[in-house]
Amino acid sequence: MKKRMRQALADREPPAPARAGADAWPLSEPFRVGGVEIPNRVVQAPLAGIANWPFRLQAQRHGAGLAVSEMIASMGVAHGNQRTVDMLEVDPREGLTAIQVFGASPDAMASAARAAEAAGACMVDINMGCPVHKVCKTGAGSSLLGDPELAERVVAAMVDAVSIPVTVKMRRGLTPDEARPVDFARRMEDAGASAIAFHPRAAAEEYRGQADHTITTRVVEAVDIPVVASGDITTAERARAVHEETGCAAVMIGRAALGNPWIFHAMATGEPSRRPALDGVIEELCSFALDQRRVLGDRRAMHVLRKFYPWYLAGEPVDQGTVADLLRIDDLDTVLDRLRGLATGDPLATVPGLN
Ligand SMILES: Cc1cc2nc3c(=O)[nH]c(=O)nc-3n(C[C@H](O)[C@H](O)[C@H](O)COP(=O)(O)O)c2cc1C
Repeated sequence: MKKRMRQALADREPPAPARAGADAWPLSEPFRVGGVEIPNRVVQAPLAGIANWPFRLQAQRHGAGLAVSEMIASMGVAHGNQRTVDMLEVDPREGLTAIQVFGASPDAMASAARAAEAAGACMVDINMGCPVHKVCKTGAGSSLLGDPELAERVVAAMVDAVSIPVTVKMRRGLTPDEARPVDFARRMEDAGASAIAFHPRAAAEEYRGQADHTITTRVVEAVDIPVVASGDITTAERARAVHEETGCAAVMIGRAALGNPWIFHAMATGEPSRRPALDGVIEELCSFALDQRRVLGDRRAMHVLRKFYPWYLAGEPVDQGTVADLLRIDDLDTVLDRLRGLATGDPLATVPGLN
């Protein structure tokens, strides 16, 4: 039912009775995407090169109601590229996980959707926001914003291929001047998308400036499917404000969660952050590192983890020289030992139970 019609009906209905706990934290309530009930309104954003299962599992353990994978190439899945196929892995301990795929061929995207469903994803998301040239030159990512007919065919092919909900993550447009996000979002809804994650920057803006969520409000008002707001949501108060101001179904958290998984609990409950003291931060980082080693093997894990040390240790009582040293070490066990030494204040000590 379209918004205008619903409004007319709502005008005739008696006001809903006040709900118990009307001042309860609004992001702690469940919401639905198609047939999937998500236990709260805080979603971990898709992050390329970052959101594999250890990252998602950690986000879910810390309170994210839904976690979205890094973007996965549909062509790589179609060609059986082992590294790409491995990225589809959903750990059995994970909660609700969406797998995000990218591509511009409706057939390849439909088979990637089937692979995502078979891997255990509760929904499959389409990347229509990536501004990176390597992706856009193939017609995928944000390029689809400039070709709504093809974007519709991609959505429709995927909806036909799977029984899980198909969702779209989009930016406001290719450039601020050409952007028609309301029209595009409506077309995705009409093609069968069950939800839209909306990042209100244009692709050409990459990550510059501030996300203008007044544009999110326009998208929310234009469609009947849930809209998840993404962009510069960095605190629980900001999350609540964006939720209230835009009417979005949920908020999506990306960069603010890097090195700070505790943010999910704060956002999902409205309670103060449970970020622990340095020893607790390091315990979390070491357990995350060991999961990464399981998935990626020693060498690749070591490279990926180098991004995470500065994120985790920012704001902690650890000097920059020590962080720089960690980035130079070529052996993961040595890094873990150094980290454990920082936790105990003894550079040679290890924390038992983490091996
Ligand atoms: C390192 C990095 C990787 C990203 N990878 C993806 C991706 O794979 N798919 C996607 O749809 N968006 C991706 N994004 C965009 C984020 O999901 C999110 O929309 C954007 O960062 C704005 O949210 P934030 O301010 O909470 O980070 C990425 C962003 C960053 C910073």
